[in-house]
Amino acid sequence: MPDLSGTPLFHAFQRITLRFVQNASKWSYDDLSFVRLSSPAPAEFDCGSAAQNDFLLRHALTAHEEQVSATYLGYLAGQCFGYVTLAPDSLETLPRERPRRVKRWPRIPALKILQMATDLRFQGRGLGSALVQFAVFVGCEADRVPYRYLTLDAVPERVGWYQRRGFTVSELRQRERIARLTDAGGDPGHLPVSMHMDLRDARSAR
Ligand SMILES: CC(C)(COP(=O)(O)OP(=O)(O)OC[C@H]1O[C@@H](n2cnc3c(N)ncnc32)[C@H](O)[C@@H]1OP(=O)(O)O)[C@@H](O)C(=O)NCCC(=O)NCCS
Repeated sequence: MPDLSGTPLFHAFQRITLRFVQNASKWSYDDLSFVRLSSPAPAEFDCGSAAQNDFLLRHALTAHEEQVSATYLGYLAGQCFGYVTLAPDSLETLPRERPRRVKRWPRIPALKILQMATDLRFQGRGLGSALVQFAVFVGCEADRVPYRYLTLDAVPERVGWYQRRGFTVSELRQRERIARLTDAGGDPGHLPVSMHMDLRDARSAR
């Protein structure tokens, strides 16, 4: 992604996103920034979940160097509050899930949130939502090769959180995931849930 941080659209994104962060009036728009990870992540980062801590501290930089994903660290007034890792994806959907005019494309290009977490010290202030909004911003900006959807795999207890932020369950992908696991003799009880958001709606709202 080219550096978008100085553009008028990015400033608009910073302003709008900050409105929903706790104590919004304390911050100026440029207090909120996102920096692409290109050196080791802050070692003190702790979101309370071993999987997301481990990804950031042990794997995110290698994935960046190997060009398989991009991790962005979010900063509020100079303090790292969280991260989001993005990679290209494509989503196969049921005919009834598919946008009306793209019936011919069985797989629709998507940007995927591979990982996302907010440091414990910053949780519950609207900054996890800011990470989602940043992913929406990146997805909408990539116009040379467009992404129609923003996708993710949610742990079951987070499904409601993502639904309240505009994601819906990707029925076909989820059905296939359950079938694969059941065929292998596994228990689908605690499987991640595939979800997506239509970025076309977000683009047209700008
Ligand atoms: C999931 C996670 C990223 C959410 O981050 P967060 O920074 O707490 O997210 P937000 O503050 O935007 O939203 C959390 C809740 O705080 C509340 N909140 C949002 N803005 C708020 C504000 N300004 N003041 C007080 N509370 C606020 C919201 O009510 C929201 O809850 P709701 O949507 O259930 O009602 C974070 O809990 C986390 O990193 N967990 C561990 C890793 C993980 O589970 N990653 C996702 C894997 S699928």
